[in-house]
Amino acid sequence: MARGDQLKALLASYLEGNEAQFYSVAMQLAADEARKGHGRLAEELRELIDRTKVARKRPPLEPPTPIGRPRGELAQLLRVAYPKARLADLIVSERVEQALRRIVKEQRHLTKLLEHGLSPRRKILLVGSPGTGKTLTASALAGELGLPLFAVRLDALLTRFMGETAAKLRQIFDASHSARGVYFFDEFDAIGSQRVSPNDIGEVRRILNSFLVMIEEDTSHSLILAATNHPQILDDALFRRFDDVIEYELPQPSQIVQILESRLGRFAPPNLDVRALATTAEGLSHAEITRAAEEAVKNAVMHDHDHVSPEELEGLLQRRPPRTWRPQR
Ligand SMILES: Nc1ncnc2c1ncn2[C@@H]1O[C@H](COP(=O)(O)OP(=O)(O)O)[C@@H](O)[C@H]1O
Ligand SMILES: [Mg+2]
Repeated sequence: MARGDQLKALLASYLEGNEAQFYSVAMQLAADEARKGHGRLAEELRELIDRTKVARKRPPLEPPTPIGRPRGELAQLLRVAYPKARLADLIVSERVEQALRRIVKEQRHLTKLLEHGLSPRRKILLVGSPGTGKTLTASALAGELGLPLFAVRLDALLTRFMGETAAKLRQIFDASHSARGVYFFDEFDAIGSQRVSPNDIGEVRRILNSFLVMIEEDTSHSLILAATNHPQILDDALFRRFDDVIEYELPQPSQIVQILESRLGRFAPPNLDVRALATTAEGLSHAEITRAAEEAVKNAVMHDHDHVSPEELEGLLQRRPPRTWRPQR
């Protein structure tokens, strides 16, 4: 075969994925070079062919795995995210903000604290009404610390077979050692609940007990966060296992103003009476107010209006969704 044809055949076999053909043509090329007295080049070609064969026998390279992405069964149990949220995104009381800043500060000084035999706060329980920023807090803490957020999928964790559930919990706590991150048990009351049918109580207690033991024994450097809307149904023993319990509350009028201003942005009409709207919105959660403001902005955008309609916004804030549960204090 002429050299040009050989090159064409080589490329064609590569294109078709015909490996046998590829090696055969490559070997011909090497043999031709040898015949032409180019012994060194022929040798180099054969060596390259051998190396190619060895490399091809290895399993194909796996797609790059981002650091901390759970594998195997863990991947079913943990949903990983790399949130961009920051604490500044949260509109919370001074008290909650201080508590969160404290966690971040201690985590940032982790090494220094550990060197002095001190342990930074890292087992945190978030409690409070729905829509007050508990889930957002998990993202903000991960974002602030530059750690992956591993959200525990309770639906995958809690199986009908309690032994299996305990084994899965074990895997999660093992992961907290091997991959530092924020491990988030959202809607945690599903595990921690005491209010279950009499048939299940023994089983649920066993899960809860294994969780208690695991959280107690956990000496990882990960942040373990749990959140619940129903603290009143949690076991007292549970509360004691956490380094900190942070209570989220419905927003105060000044916070309502902040939420409205930040969500309306440039769609706020110039002389909008935000204080009056804050009175209307009292008793609503951050999430509900956010939703109303976003709804009004969406309507403005769709109708090519520069600003939201104050009457419409007020109407949206008045239209309260039915609540089945309100904070009991
Ligand atoms: N404290 C808050 N500050 C700012 N936005 C909030 C706050 N709480 C809730 N939101 C808004 O409502 C959404 C849902 O809140 P979420 O964190 O899921 O509440 P929870 O977990 O307490 O039920 C958030 O993504 C955010 O847009
Ligand atoms: Mg939540």
